[in-house]
Amino acid sequence: MRVFSGIRASGDKTLGNYSGGYRQYLQMQDEALAAGGEAFFCVVDLHSITTPFEPEVLRESTLSGFAWLIATGVDPGRSTVFVQSHVPAHPEAAWLLGAVTSMGELRRMTQFKDRAEEQDFVAAGLFTYPVLMAADILLYNTDVVPVGDDQRQHVELTRDIAERFNQRFGETLVVPRVRNPQEGARVKNLQEPDRLMSTTRGAPQGVVRMIDPPDVIRKKFKTAVTDSGREVKHDPEEKAGVSNLIEIMAVVTGVSISEVESRYDGAGYGQFKEDVGEAVVSLLTPFRERYDELRADEAALRRLMKQGSEKAAGVANPTLERMYERMGFVGA
Ligand code: TYM
Repeated sequence: MRVFSGIRASGDKTLGNYSGGYRQYLQMQDEALAAGGEAFFCVVDLHSITTPFEPEVLRESTLSGFAWLIATGVDPGRSTVFVQSHVPAHPEAAWLLGAVTSMGELRRMTQFKDRAEEQDFVAAGLFTYPVLMAADILLYNTDVVPVGDDQRQHVELTRDIAERFNQRFGETLVVPRVRNPQEGARVKNLQEPDRLMSTTRGAPQGVVRMIDPPDVIRKKFKTAVTDSGREVKHDPEEKAGVSNLIEIMAVVTGVSISEVESRYDGAGYGQFKEDVGEAVVSLLTPFRERYDELRADEAALRRLMKQGSEKAAGVANPTLERMYERMGFVGA
């Protein structure tokens, strides 16, 4: 079993990224190895230039994005961890896949529609972004792609692109399947529980960042928006705020939603919010400590990056060559 996932090198990483991203990477790394397969995790810096960015910030967030992957449990000795721009096969394959992707498909991507609305200058790269994501996945003959719910549509498009390529040019690419977590696939902003938790929009007070100090995290949970009731019950339609907190509690402590509900039966919101905050602090503190250590030694990080990209290129380049060949390119 081959596993591949990517995470952007932009914005501070959030509890949402932990839930839909890091947490699943760790599980899938073990699952892949147990099944005799392997896992690939990539800091997708080429994706980060599709929305407004600053060169200095990109540099820093690529290093920190790489450090977070390792700090949260991806083991560079067992999985391949690398930076997308270090493996030129990614943008090359994206160009080839552009031949089997339609404008209509890209126009239907909800993330494009949402992000394009927020900007005066909409980069062409924002529109073609899902083709690069398809290239990331398909170059590694990926079976499973662990992501949060917001990326599901992109993985479905990747499947369509792979199938179309195979139909047109002969069996070449593995058609991957998506893996969303059972709970916490869509962690919401604590202040605006109808919005995804994201650093690019929504009230900052409702966004829990991986880098936030413990007291800041506690305060964010204490002031989380709930409702006028007092029952700790999972009902996303009627009780969006409390349901989000229940899911967060389930994610960070590894228990089921119904167990969280029964544990807080009759307890009221105040105590519950405080406990969720404390559980999140306990989860994130060791990650932050490890992150600080890793980030302090840039030379060591760069060595790991180099090792990772060499391993990744060893898998991606043969797939790219096969694609060129099947499409009728003469080759050098
Ligand atoms: P990115 O960098 O926005 O997010 C990384 C991962 O975190 C998940 N996530 C969430 N999950 C639950 N609740 C949230 N609030 C939340 N916010 C983020 C995302 O679903 C994702 O799994 N296009 C991708 C990066 C990418 C990629 C790939 C992923 C590029 N190439 C190939 C998989 C395979 C993105 O922007 O993720």
